[in-house]
Amino acid sequence: MPIFVFIMKTTRMINIAIFASGNGTNTEQIIRYFREHNEIHVNFVLSNKPRAYVLERARRLGVDTFVFDRRQFYYTNEVINALAGHTIDFIVLAGFLWLIPGELIKAYKNRMLNIHPALLPKYGGKGMYGKKVHEAVKNSGDTETGISIHYVNEKYDEGQVIFQARCPVQPDDTPDDIAAKVHQLEYEYYPKVIEREVKKIKDRH
Ligand code: GAR
Repeated sequence: MPIFVFIMKTTRMINIAIFASGNGTNTEQIIRYFREHNEIHVNFVLSNKPRAYVLERARRLGVDTFVFDRRQFYYTNEVINALAGHTIDFIVLAGFLWLIPGELIKAYKNRMLNIHPALLPKYGGKGMYGKKVHEAVKNSGDTETGISIHYVNEKYDEGQVIFQARCPVQPDDTPDDIAAKVHQLEYEYYPKVIEREVKKIKDRH
């Protein structure tokens, strides 16, 4: 029996779920990155927005989806149960805009990553997402911005930052120009950082 359990733990694919509220370009990138991977696999995409384009992307790529509302997320176990139903080992937030409830953080402690489109601690916190972040960078006159990848805790954008990458901001860059540069960094680094962190967890078993 103990031998059987050991084999199960070391041979099963590690399953990732992605939470996203919007367009889902990062989600698509991450799903594609792990498609041929022999240890890690994205098998679930969850959203609080029934019409978010990320759901369409996931369905087209053959990944199961789940939509939930505020009541389900904050006052029931339905989301945690749905994650358990897909044997989810690790959670990735990719443009997900709601604060994660304590129960979910506890259930996935040190197994939940977020990406923020700026160099935290700058331009983080409640209400700072997507274009608002890039507008704030533009208005600040900063000459560089970038991405931050961090573990999730119970406060917006305050968990431990484990990776940052930078790009220059030119004086005539618009917020859209800044967003495009930041997205390129996200596509390049987020899948690789996820892979690195998930492997650490696998090695602990
Ligand atoms: C990404 O730039 C991500 O960093 C940002 O939302 C965008 C989602 O784009 N997240 C936040 O602002 C969280 N505070 P996508 O839907 O195309 O992946």
